[in-house]
Amino acid sequence: MTTRGERQEELEQAGYNLFNVPGPRVLVDLLTDSGTGAMSSEQWAGLQRGDESYAGSASWFRFRDAVRELFPFEHVIPTHQGRAAEKIIFSVLGGPGKTIPNNTHFDTTRANVEFSGAEALDLPVPEALVPSSRHPFKGNMDVEALRRVLAESEEVPVVFITLTNNSGGGQPVSMENLRAVRQACDAAGVPLFLDACRFAENAWFVKLREHGYADTPVAEIVREMASLAHGMTMSAKKDPLGNIGGWLALDDDAVAEQARNLLILTEGFPTYGGLAGRDLDALAQGLREAVDEDYLRYRIRSTAYLGEALDRAGIPVVLPVGGHAVYLDARALLGQIPPLEYPGQALAAALYLEGGIRGCEIGTVMFGRQPDGSEQPAAMDLVRLAIPRRTYTQSHVDYVIEVCEYVAERAGDLRGLRIVEEPPALRHFTARFERL
Ligand code: F0G
Repeated sequence: MTTRGERQEELEQAGYNLFNVPGPRVLVDLLTDSGTGAMSSEQWAGLQRGDESYAGSASWFRFRDAVRELFPFEHVIPTHQGRAAEKIIFSVLGGPGKTIPNNTHFDTTRANVEFSGAEALDLPVPEALVPSSRHPFKGNMDVEALRRVLAESEEVPVVFITLTNNSGGGQPVSMENLRAVRQACDAAGVPLFLDACRFAENAWFVKLREHGYADTPVAEIVREMASLAHGMTMSAKKDPLGNIGGWLALDDDAVAEQARNLLILTEGFPTYGGLAGRDLDALAQGLREAVDEDYLRYRIRSTAYLGEALDRAGIPVVLPVGGHAVYLDARALLGQIPPLEYPGQALAAALYLEGGIRGCEIGTVMFGRQPDGSEQPAAMDLVRLAIPRRTYTQSHVDYVIEVCEYVAERAGDLRGLRIVEEPPALRHFTARFERL
């Protein structure tokens, strides 16, 4: 517990950037659902079984088989987390002059594409940019726009689809949309990859919302999604319930060989890739638990519980409520703060100041700086309250609801921020701000 005065001091020391606030000074930490989940007893048992052989450990084979059970790709390449897989695949497939479409790139994905010299192109459906639109699959890609890009450019080495769309509200992609995207890719001879961090939550939404899937087991829905792709990147810190981990998986032998060579350079030998054997075992077990339907029902309902309560209180949130997080529409709530004065950052700071809650701006701070150095408002200014898996209780969430209501009632008093220091890329992690 901290006092409001202590939190005011923390904010000033942190340059109004919640990434700079020490964890022990946060009461309810909704910064991310990445690596922050609680492992199960069976996952902890897996840690004890870990085999730490450098090459070909027993843990590696258990991990590889668990991945292939859901994602039957020929090559599975373990990495220490998702962005390491991204760095490797975009080093092989990216490069200057190339364009990589995605429904919406997440921050590290965009940064890794741009770091290779390629352009990261977002092609969300129009509904994705309207926080109040209740389209059931707002994570879908705009297939017509994709067809146009593929027809006009010969320099598209791969198309990505992010399941669920994290930057756009944790919204799912339908199987119908995945199939249409795959068709467009086939017509152009371009491979399709999944950024599949939240694959199980996406599959659960397909089961709930898409015609014909109500009686299909989630694991089968996942395998069908995988069958539509040529490869995938994964941050195993999300749906696979790991505190660390990731992988790159694909069918293409030549690309896999190049990827393995890069892996050895920075991550490690191809049977552990930056992870301990015990981590591989925890992930193998986590993958089995991720597709447990009782768990998924609990998971998605508990996120909706928060979102629905805020919606009932008249607080603007992205609807329908996403899988791993509730996204507050800061641009709508703080109408007096223009996007270039960072309403999302101001709202996130206010939630911390009033209640010790840490959320994450997903808006103009995260996406406003362009590769040419100019600054533009992002499509939306959101504050994400991400729910760590199996970590908080309903009473924690009830407290979060009360704090959001308290801040929303005083939203008109909040002022914007200005950046006083920022790095050249991924500025939201380390930028410092001053209150206007
Ligand atoms: N792709 C998506 C859609 C993500 O959400 C993330 C991470 C990554 C890739 C990169 O994975 O962190 O293991 O390197 N998202 C976290 C978040 C950090 O808070 O949403 P990583």
